Amino acid sequence: MQISDIKTVGVVGGGTMGFGIAINFALWGYPTIISDLSPEILARSRAHIAKAMELFVEGDLISQQRADETMNRITTTTDLALLAVQSDFVTEAIIERAEDKRALFTRLDALCPPHTIFASNTSRLVLSDIGAGIERQDKLMLTHYFAPPHIVPGVEVAKGPGTTDETFEITCDLMTCARKIPIRLHKELPGYLLNRIQGAMAREASRLWSEGMATAEDIELGIISTFGFRMPHEGPFMHYDLAGIWKWPEDVRNPSAIEDEKLRTQMLTGRPWFVDPAAFDEAVERRDRAYIRRLKALYWKDDA
Ligand SMILES: NC(=O)c1ccc[n+]([C@@H]2O[C@H](COP(=O)([O-])OP(=O)(O)OC[C@H]3O[C@@H](n4cnc5c(N)ncnc54)[C@H](O)[C@@H]3O)[C@@H](O)[C@H]2O)c1
Repeated sequence: MQISDIKTVGVVGGGTMGFGIAINFALWGYPTIISDLSPEILARSRAHIAKAMELFVEGDLISQQRADETMNRITTTTDLALLAVQSDFVTEAIIERAEDKRALFTRLDALCPPHTIFASNTSRLVLSDIGAGIERQDKLMLTHYFAPPHIVPGVEVAKGPGTTDETFEITCDLMTCARKIPIRLHKELPGYLLNRIQGAMAREASRLWSEGMATAEDIELGIISTFGFRMPHEGPFMHYDLAGIWKWPEDVRNPSAIEDEKLRTQMLTGRPWFVDPAAFDEAVERRDRAYIRRLKALYWKDDA
């Protein structure tokens, strides 16, 4: 199977995530079918899609004609079989309940053509559980979007225990065709990668709030106006590079205090993760230009 064999896409569940996931595919040319439990829910999905397209047009991302074409590429049904027989790739975005997802995958396995790839948008369940009952173990994927999925660019992509490299690569290619950024995971783990990282921050923020360290307002503002301000440009590894931590003497970097051997070995190198040490000053200048643009857009008040 090749990426060009994916002609039509199905999305099961047209709620908060499903309608936006459908927009991504339809926007970039894929006829897309959404199924849900009732015509009333699907009418709501269509209204959300129409509103999203209105905002895309208002934001100058697309023309009204493109918005209309996108809407016309999306059909809806309460009949799962109708979606299944037509879809070469199905994303499920139904309720986060393992037994419901297991039952859905079992039905889809019986209804879809043998080549159809299944993807789950689960936030914290694992494919080895929710996909365990199906025959096509080689065609089972995680594609984990972030709300709002028609706007946030990155999507986590992971295999199940039996998924082939071919399925994984086709899925990554499909994300790229829908102008998403596939984040390629090497393992399955409850919460996968990014919700675990995000959750670690949320847990610590909640604990510090509960201990009376600061108000919820100040914790929120602190995150947004400090390391959150930098985040469109740098995560923790790029921060290590651009803050110049790799240049500190070894006893100050203190890798010996790191218990994990793989990480200690990395830190012992005294090298940046990504930035070429010879081009460090240029990288810092590029960063500062980006930050100044953001400062101007979000905070700068020239009231001197
Ligand atoms: N909301 C988020 O921010 C977010 C982010 C990433 C991942 N997710 C995951 O995406 C999935 C969907 O979450 P959501 O927030 O869109 O939920 P939601 O409740 O807004 O939407 C779920 C939709 O699925 C439908 N549904 C439920 N069972 C169904 C079935 N058997 N067949 C067809 N449709 C069915 C419901 O009617 C509803 O419209 C969950 O697995 C969730 O963990 C959510």
